[in-house]
Amino acid sequence: MIAIDGPAGSGKSTVARTVAERLELPYLDTGAMYRAVAFAALRRGIDPADELPVARLAAKVELSVEAGVVTVDGMDASIEVRGLEVTRAVSSVAANPAVRAELVARQRRWAAERCGGVVEGRDIGTVVFPDARLKVFLTASHEARSERRAREVTDLDYDAVAADIARRDHLDSTRVADPLQAAADAVVVDTTGLGIDEVVAAVLDHLGGLTG
Ligand code: CDP
Repeated sequence: MIAIDGPAGSGKSTVARTVAERLELPYLDTGAMYRAVAFAALRRGIDPADELPVARLAAKVELSVEAGVVTVDGMDASIEVRGLEVTRAVSSVAANPAVRAELVARQRRWAAERCGGVVEGRDIGTVVFPDARLKVFLTASHEARSERRAREVTDLDYDAVAADIARRDHLDSTRVADPLQAAADAVVVDTTGLGIDEVVAAVLDHLGGLTG
C-alpha cells in the first residue's frame, strides 16, 4: 500500500496516478468519493452541512471511482464532481464523521479486494492505512498550488482559485474528524518548483530505499 496525502494543488492526483501506472498497481482517488457524496446531496436538495441526512445518504449511495470516471447512482458525474458547486460543498461533507466512517470503510474494502494499491487523499497515511508501506505527504507553497489549480479549471480566475484553496486548506486542517496532516512517519516532499517527473522519481526512490 502506498499512501499519498496533501492539500489541494500539491500535485497528489497526477503523482499518485503516475506512480500507480509505473508500478502497475490499482489507484484510488478518495477525494472523488467525498465529491461524489457532495454531488449526490446537492442533486437531492439536501443541505451539505445537514449532518444526519448527508450521513444517511452516504450509507446508501451507490458510487464508484474507476479510471478517472466517477459514477453516482449509476450516472456519470465525472465532470460535475469537479465543478464549482461541488467544490464549495465538499469540505462540509468531508467534516461529517459519519460520512468519513462510511467512506473509510469503503476505501479499506477497495484495497482488500485488490491486495493494495496507490491511494491518495488527506487522511490515508494517518487514518485509512496507518500501516501503509510508504507514506508520502506532498506540500507546496500556496501560490504554487493556486497557479497549478488555476491552469486546470476554466470557470475561475487565479484570485478566486487562491481564495478557494485557502478556504479549503483551513477547513480541512482544522476540522475535528481526521484533519489534513502528515503522518509522523510520512516522507514530506515540497513540490514547489518541481515538475511531476521529479516528484514521481522522488517517490519511487523512497520506495526503492525501503527494505523488506
Ligand atoms: O483535488 P483537490 O485537492 O481539490 O480535492 P480532492 O482531493 O478532490 O478532495 C476534495 C475534498 O475532499 C477535500 O477538500 C477534503 O475536504 C475532502 N477529502 C477528505 O476529507 N479526505 C480525503 N481522504 C480526501 C478528500
